Amino acid sequence: MRINIAIDGPSAAGKSTIAKRLATQLNYVHLDTGAMYRCTALKALKSNIKLDDEAAVCEMLKTTDIKMTSDGQIFLDGEDVTKEIRNDDVSMAASDVSKLEKVREDLVKRQQEMAKDKGFIMDGRDIGTVVLKDAEVKIFLTASVEARALRRYKQNQELGILDNDLEKIKEDIAQRDYQDTHREHSPSRQAEDAIKVDTSDLTIDEVVDTIMKIVSERIGSK
Ligand code: DC
Repeated sequence: MRINIAIDGPSAAGKSTIAKRLATQLNYVHLDTGAMYRCTALKALKSNIKLDDEAAVCEMLKTTDIKMTSDGQIFLDGEDVTKEIRNDDVSMAASDVSKLEKVREDLVKRQQEMAKDKGFIMDGRDIGTVVLKDAEVKIFLTASVEARALRRYKQNQELGILDNDLEKIKEDIAQRDYQDTHREHSPSRQAEDAIKVDTSDLTIDEVVDTIMKIVSERIGSK
């Protein structure tokens, strides 16, 4: 019995890491929807398109191809942008373009198309509330700003990103949290039927085990 799993939560809560691990254990496909907003932002920045120009960003998307491989590489119009989309500038710009209603419509449609069948783990902000409303398991993954900033800092170190300042990361995360939860269209929020998992004091293994138990119970009851 295959199901769909939605993982939502704030920036740097560990969604992608956890989703990847779950996908490997379950032999499911992982879709990182944040990467799609990041690709949109990167291309807009490179094309000198204003991040609040909804019509121009939507027009740009008509000729934009975003692909993700099973090992987590992200291709934007055929170019590997896996590292580039994690830069601070792109992170903030992604939060900006994600406010645009028509941009969300375009990307949500692509995400729903990709996950037509069962066996998907999708992570983002609106998966349980909009994209996969009928997902059998919905997790809201969260952690304190301090814990998330430290994780992003370490992740940047591993990726070799030179512009890496913990205080600045903390400020950026708090600002993006505010922006993502206060925007007009599909603000980031916990779905009513989602289970909240606070990862501040948990290891990756502990989070994976916690969610695997929830998934096993759900699959068993199907
Ligand atoms: O998860 P992330 O940090 O890679 O997401 C980048 C930005 O995209 C973030 O500011 C919120 C936005 N986003 C969104 O609005 N909806 C999603 N499903 C995924 C990400």
